Amino acid sequence: MVTARQLTGVTGLVFAIGLSISTQSVTQAQAPAAAPAPTFTKDVLPILQRSCQNCHRPGTPAPMSLLTYQDARPWARAIKAKVTSREMPPWHIDRSIGEYLQDPSLSDREVALIAGWVDGGAPEGRASDAPAPRVFPASSQWTYGEPDLIVRMEKGFKIPAEGPDFLPEEVVDPKLTEDRYVKWVQIIPDAHRAVHHAHVYVDLPEGTDTEGLGLGMGSNVGNSMDLIEYGAGNDADLFPDGTTKVLKKGSLFRFEGHYHPYGEETFDRMRVGIKFYPKGVVPKYAVTSHRIRTGVGNDWVLNRERIEDLLLRAGYKLSIDEPSMPTGALIAENPLHAAALLSIPPNSVVQHERFWPLPKPALIVSFQPHMHFRGSRLLLEAIHPDGRREVLTSATHYQQNWQITYKYKTPHLFPAGTILHTVSIHDNTANNKHNPDPTAWVGWGSRTMDEMGHGWTDVAFLTDVQYKEELAKRKAPTTDSRQ
Ligand code: HEC
Repeated sequence: MVTARQLTGVTGLVFAIGLSISTQSVTQAQAPAAAPAPTFTKDVLPILQRSCQNCHRPGTPAPMSLLTYQDARPWARAIKAKVTSREMPPWHIDRSIGEYLQDPSLSDREVALIAGWVDGGAPEGRASDAPAPRVFPASSQWTYGEPDLIVRMEKGFKIPAEGPDFLPEEVVDPKLTEDRYVKWVQIIPDAHRAVHHAHVYVDLPEGTDTEGLGLGMGSNVGNSMDLIEYGAGNDADLFPDGTTKVLKKGSLFRFEGHYHPYGEETFDRMRVGIKFYPKGVVPKYAVTSHRIRTGVGNDWVLNRERIEDLLLRAGYKLSIDEPSMPTGALIAENPLHAAALLSIPPNSVVQHERFWPLPKPALIVSFQPHMHFRGSRLLLEAIHPDGRREVLTSATHYQQNWQITYKYKTPHLFPAGTILHTVSIHDNTANNKHNPDPTAWVGWGSRTMDEMGHGWTDVAFLTDVQYKEELAKRKAPTTDSRQ
C-alpha cells in the first residue's frame, strides 16, 4: 500500500506532469468529459458532407469515397492525419486572415471532433443521428444546371501513356452573334486524370476597346481574356448577381490544356458550358482576371528599363519610344529572360515581389496563388494610398497540385493607386518534399519544372461614381474589411 508519506517526495513531479498534460490537451480532454465520445453519424458525417464529399465520391479524381461509414471507416487514421496537418480539405491559407465564399476548411473544434472520433475507435453511432445523404451531380454533369451554350474542342488531343507534360491549344468559334454576359461558366474535361489544369481564353475581335473591358492596364497583355481556369478543386465560376464576364460577339475560344501523361493513353475533348444573364439584363460590373506576376507582362510598364535592356541583349530591335512591348518578345524559354524574372539558385529559399498599382478604383473579387513544385508561400497585400498595409490572403502552405481560388466573402474595395503587392517564396532545398531536384537552378517558365510565382486576381474596375456608391454602402469608414 502506498502511504501519503511515500507520495510526498514525488508530488511536485506529479503536479508538473499534470500541468503540462492539461494545458496541452485542454480541448480534447474537456469536451469528452462533458459529452459522449464523437460518433460517425452524429459528429463526423456532417463535416464530411460539407467539406469532403464534394471531391470524395465515386467518379472523381479523389482516391476514395467518403459518403458512408463503410467507405470512411478504413481511412479513419489517414483522415485524422490529413485533417490535423490541414492538408485536407485543400485550403492552404492562413485561416485567420479574411473571409471567403465556399470555404470548406475545418474549425479547430471540427478537427478535434474527427481526431476524437478516430482515437475513440471510430464508432458508427446511431443511424437515427445521421443527416440525410447529400445528392451530387455526376462529374460529367453541370454543377449549376443546364448551360445556354456548350462549346467543345473539335479535334481534341491524344495524351500518350508516357512522356513530358505538354500544353496544346485549340481554337474554336463559339459563333457569338451578339455580346452576352456570363452568369456561370464551367469546364468539363473527358480525361479528368490527365488534365493538370486547363484554361479557356477568349480571343477578342480586332478593334475591341480592351481597356473599356477592364483588360490590359499593366497586368495582362494582348487582346485576350481569361474566361475560366480548370484545376483540381476548381472547375466552375458562378458570378454573384450584378457581376459578370463580358463575351463580345465575334470572339473565339482558345482551349489550352496542360496535360500530364499518367501511364494510360487517353483522349481529351473538353467542353466549356456557359449560362448567360437573361437578354436585356446588363450586370453592373465586368470582372476580368489579372496576373500580378513575378514574370512577364507588366514588366514593360513597371520595369521598362530593365526589360528593354534584356530584350536588346537578346537581339530585339527597339525604337527609343516603343509604345508597347514588342509582340513575340516574351519568349518564356529565353533563358536570359527567365533568369531576370525569377531566379531560384540551388539549395536556397528565395523571395520575389511584384507591385501592381490599380489604375482605377476596383473591387478585388478573388485571389489564386500560382507557383510550381518549389512554391511554398504566396502572400497578397494591399498597400493603401496612405501607406497602410493590409494582408488580404496568405497562402502559408501552398501546394502546387492544388490551384485553389479564394473568393472573398465581401470583395475588397480599393481606390485607384492602391498597390497590390505579392510576395512569393520558393523553397529549392531538400526540406521541400515536393522538390524534384534541389541541385537545379530554376527560372521562370511555363513547364512544370520551371517556376512561376504569381497571383491570379479577379478584379472589377469601377468608375469614380461607382466607387463612391460602393464606399457609401459599406458602413465602416475604412476599406479594411476586417475592422
Ligand atoms: C477539392 C477536392 C477535395 C476535398 C474538398 C477533399 N479532398 Fe481529400 N483528397 C483529394 C484528392 C484529389 C486526393 C489525392 C491527392 C492528394 O492527396 O493530394 C485526396 C487525398 C485525401 C486523403 C489521402 C488518401 C490516401 O491515399 O492516403 C485523405 C485521407 C483525404 N483526402 C481526406 C479528406 C477529408 C477528410 C476531407 C474533408 C475534411 C477531404 N479529403 C477533402 C481531394 C479532396
